[in-house]
Amino acid sequence: LNNGVARTPPMGWNTWNTFGCNINETLIRQMADAIVNTGMRDLGYKYVVVDDCWFDPNRDAQGNLQAHAGRFPSGMKALGDYLHSRGLLFGLYQVPREKTCAQYFGAWPGSTGSLGHEYQDARQFAAWGVDFLKYDWCSPWGTINDQIAGFSLMRDALAATGRPIVYSINPNSIHEKTGPQRNWGDIANMWRTTEDITNAWNTGQTNGYPMGIQNIVNVNVPIASYASPGSFNDPDMLVVGNGGMTDTEMRSHFALWAIMAAPLIAGNDIRNASAATLDILRNQNLVAINQDSLALQAVQVANDGIRRVLAKRLANGDVAVALFNQGNSTTTVSTTAAAIGKSGNSFTLRDAWTNTTSTSTGTISASVPAHGTVVYRVSGGGTTTPPPPPTTFRLRSESS
Ligand code: GLA
Repeated sequence: LNNGVARTPPMGWNTWNTFGCNINETLIRQMADAIVNTGMRDLGYKYVVVDDCWFDPNRDAQGNLQAHAGRFPSGMKALGDYLHSRGLLFGLYQVPREKTCAQYFGAWPGSTGSLGHEYQDARQFAAWGVDFLKYDWCSPWGTINDQIAGFSLMRDALAATGRPIVYSINPNSIHEKTGPQRNWGDIANMWRTTEDITNAWNTGQTNGYPMGIQNIVNVNVPIASYASPGSFNDPDMLVVGNGGMTDTEMRSHFALWAIMAAPLIAGNDIRNASAATLDILRNQNLVAINQDSLALQAVQVANDGIRRVLAKRLANGDVAVALFNQGNSTTTVSTTAAAIGKSGNSFTLRDAWTNTTSTSTGTISASVPAHGTVVYRVSGGGTTTPPPPPTTFRLRSESS
């Protein structure tokens, strides 16, 4: 979406993956402080997003949304002011239909969706200083055309406020579990491509609830061509630091999200994050690859069912390459400079994890542990040519 924001994938933190509905203003202020104190803010993790359950279950007499008085007694404007004072940005959650996900599924009372209140709510968000809206289609009802209409309405309502607001939508959980993916780049800055992530490597789902890392990668890789400045596939928030996976799998998760130009929205408790978790989230080589100004999503250049190779062309002519082993034992994953779009016969490879360099005349190869991902930033050589075109992917029918 060409609205001036999210020219590279948004980075930040969201309440949902660790806290669900157990949120309040003290927690969010503490998290903001931790994001600053760990150096994450200065690496780019700026959007602090308050997900579902921040509101009072009832609108006021004028139909305005209200903060939940017990959890946000100082109100949302004050919370936004605090985040801004810490050099951070403020995100909120809302839905286009009658109820939020937590309300549909009974974890929270009321019915506070934006249906019929779109412009009023957008003005309210702007008045509170909101910089990011997560707009989540939770309704079990509606067609793809209903989704397009509902998401477009809030896009226009946000634009009418004049405030730059990242627009993050979720058309792909609950309602659209399967089938070809639509390119939502005409409507939003980022759009979910799968059902909800969980902190597991593989839940056996194609695109059902919940999704593991391997399952999400399978859905998100083929739609690489949809990514561009202002418009990103969103394979859901990070679960780095939330357990349930080995360190190798956690690093793979982060490396693959980074090279897929995914929004990097942490979902762990930053206040208590381990050194290993912070080392992953603060990997500067991977953040730089993710935030590259070309804003391309890596395209897959090889996949034999075990060994997958993804390549992301970068603004300075370098190419980032991920050597991903989705098998269950250590194996060598190899490609060539030519296969990832480089010409010439003399290259420098910087390993994103070890931050060490090696040289190559064209072979790019690593021994990769089970479920591991080695990432190299490949520089040198002659002219860079674009990586091969991505797999063609059929657009979902928009007739109904
Ligand atoms: C859906 C979304 C999640 C989260 C919850 C909140 O499941 O996909 O990311 O926002 O709703 O209820």
